[in-house]
Amino acid sequence: MNKRDFIKTIGAGTAFTLLNPIEALGFTDSIKKTNGKKVLILGGRGFIGPTIVQSFLDNGYEVTLLNRNKTNTHLFKELPLIICDREKENKAGLRAIDKKYKNTYWDVVVDTWQKSSKAVSDFLEEFKGNFGHYHYISTIAVYDDWNKKFINENEALNPLPKLPKSIAEGMQHRYAIRKTFAEEAIQEQITNYTIYRSHGMRDFRSANTIDVVDEPFWPVRFYRGGEILLPNVKNHHMQVLDVKSMVDFIIHCSNKKTYGAFNIACQPTRFKDYVSSLIHATQKPEKLHWIDGEFLIENGLIPYKVVPFWRPKPIAMYYFNVQKAIEAGFVHRPLVDMIKDQIEGYKYRYPKDDVKFGKQADGSVKCYSLDKEKEIIQKWLAHQKQ
Ligand SMILES: NC(=O)c1ccc[n+]([C@@H]2O[C@H](COP(=O)([O-])OP(=O)(O)OC[C@H]3O[C@@H](n4cnc5c(N)ncnc54)[C@H](OP(=O)(O)O)[C@@H]3O)[C@@H](O)[C@H]2O)c1
Repeated sequence: MNKRDFIKTIGAGTAFTLLNPIEALGFTDSIKKTNGKKVLILGGRGFIGPTIVQSFLDNGYEVTLLNRNKTNTHLFKELPLIICDREKENKAGLRAIDKKYKNTYWDVVVDTWQKSSKAVSDFLEEFKGNFGHYHYISTIAVYDDWNKKFINENEALNPLPKLPKSIAEGMQHRYAIRKTFAEEAIQEQITNYTIYRSHGMRDFRSANTIDVVDEPFWPVRFYRGGEILLPNVKNHHMQVLDVKSMVDFIIHCSNKKTYGAFNIACQPTRFKDYVSSLIHATQKPEKLHWIDGEFLIENGLIPYKVVPFWRPKPIAMYYFNVQKAIEAGFVHRPLVDMIKDQIEGYKYRYPKDDVKFGKQADGSVKCYSLDKEKEIIQKWLAHQKQ
């Protein structure tokens, strides 16, 4: 998968987020003990937003949401909500916001926006001087060249076309360009910002709609136990980002007034170490079968699209440099903890453990079924004996 394909899956996934009912897991609407700080979350009820909102509540912030009240309206019903459509031209949505909110000083603003970058600059203009620290969730897709290892924050970003003058014009651009434009607007308009260039987000409260399936394949597969097929790429690296760890870092940057742009993900991790974490989290598998890639492909299991995380060759996009964030205080919690939470989230959404992998009713294919796995393991064992 190249950079463009990868980004397309994110774009598609984000759209799907709005259609897919996302289950709440352990959400509360109240704060335990207020720290007196006000945070405005722009969005907050999609895929990553709920974990952001919940973490701020857990840390004593007074949270207000701003969105259109369309997506996952059952979440955080008790929180103050500014109903606003950021896609209206000429800031019409922002200008219609009640004065009491316009005159509020927000210690922290978190913006998850991924559509027209004009909406980001509109917000910054309209709320100028009314917030202490603005946090923007960006992506590694803002980098122009992914074909080298250890990309750090100084690498060149995507070359940009002409600046969009309207929301509609900004929507014409692809995801990576929209995010790059948004970053540029932030850097031009303010200095009190932190940008998080995220990589492969995994959340546990909601299904991961950006992956090839909307439930986490490997955690679910290991949770089911038995004999497990694995591509024999033990020493290839992979990188993901636990959303909870990201939000802890956002709160840390708020407290420390840490500004700038940061790549954030776990350190490049060997596939076999990820597998160790899966074993540790589930204590289930009876036997692992590490099977050669060529054999899997011959039998219809395609790298990445069918078998998540498997790349036939090590690829540079799993070596993003996250040292700057680590030095600033970013801590990615152990993968085993992230996986345990992903499994808890899955069990909450599917108490009967009946999510189906493999061929779907609509003809699409999501990874592979247990039957297919069994069949390939048998063939592989026979092949080994020849
Ligand atoms: N690197 C990665 O792996 C990765 C993966 C996933 C996401 N991301 C990044 O994470 C970011 C956000 O993710 P998310 O969608 O899960 O965020 P979110 O904040 O949870 O959900 C999006 C929010 O935006 C609101 N919204 C949509 N259209 C709006 C409008 N016109 N005006 C006002 N509010 C509007 C939605 O509510 P309403 O519909 O009710 O308005 C919803 O609450 C994206 O920018 C993407 O770049 C990165």
